Amino acid sequence: MTPLLRQVLSQIDGPDPRVNEVVAALVSHLHAFVEETRPTPEEWLAGLAFLVETGKMCTPDRDEFILLSDMLGLTSAVDDVNNAGPANMTPSSVEGPFHSPAPERKLGDWISTGPERERGVPTVVHGRVLDCDGTPLAGAVVDLWQANDTGLYDTQDDSQDTGNLRGLFTTDADGLYWFRTIRPSSYPVPTDGTGGTLLRAIGRHPMRPAHLHYRVTAGGHRPLITHVFLAGDPYLESDAAYAVKEELVREPRPGAGEWGMDGPYEEIEFDVRLVPLGWTEERANPA
Ligand SMILES: [Fe+2]
Repeated sequence: MTPLLRQVLSQIDGPDPRVNEVVAALVSHLHAFVEETRPTPEEWLAGLAFLVETGKMCTPDRDEFILLSDMLGLTSAVDDVNNAGPANMTPSSVEGPFHSPAPERKLGDWISTGPERERGVPTVVHGRVLDCDGTPLAGAVVDLWQANDTGLYDTQDDSQDTGNLRGLFTTDADGLYWFRTIRPSSYPVPTDGTGGTLLRAIGRHPMRPAHLHYRVTAGGHRPLITHVFLAGDPYLESDAAYAVKEELVREPRPGAGEWGMDGPYEEIEFDVRLVPLGWTEERANPA
């Protein structure tokens, strides 16, 4: 440790021990970063100006810092350290910036209510919400959102009605949920801000693989925010938000069930296993 860093750390003595801990760790890592990369004063100021520009991009509807956090894998890293659970739980994944209140819908309803329904691949999505021991969870609430076939959410696209491609479903006595939609498509994250500047600077594409977002809640269980991804997507290995986990990838199959569909369609099956409240590694594996 340099004398300078030792001096900075010695001055951290606020009333909240957690704040002291976090600031001390951040300062230590930043000093190590400066030691390692040896930025010139001009480079350091350029870095600060980049953060100022990032702040200027932020509005109530857009948070460029969250985008940067996603693009650097940091949102996923925070998600990972907060969502340990049994081996068979459904893994969590980042929420992303496009959640908004969804209309309540009945099991089997279409969540696609706009013209994209004529253009897209008709798709039935179904599965069960279960406890990690396999018990079906009746009355669980499944909150869904997805982009349309051109990769836009209703909140980004004036041509879509509010609530299009969103839905709030309640599972039946067997824990089943199902709905009809169109196949989601891959899409680019916004690139007109500092997030885009960063991506171009490091030679990285802005694409996210096709996915549906899930937020699942049930009494007595830890709420789960996750994605389901479609197998075969060219961006699964290089998601701009680093949110893909192998257990969340599903192969769309040719539709075959009794889902009331006319004509050909695809089927995606995705069971969700929730972690009971109070689960800890120590309780699950007592020494
Ligand atoms: Fe998304």
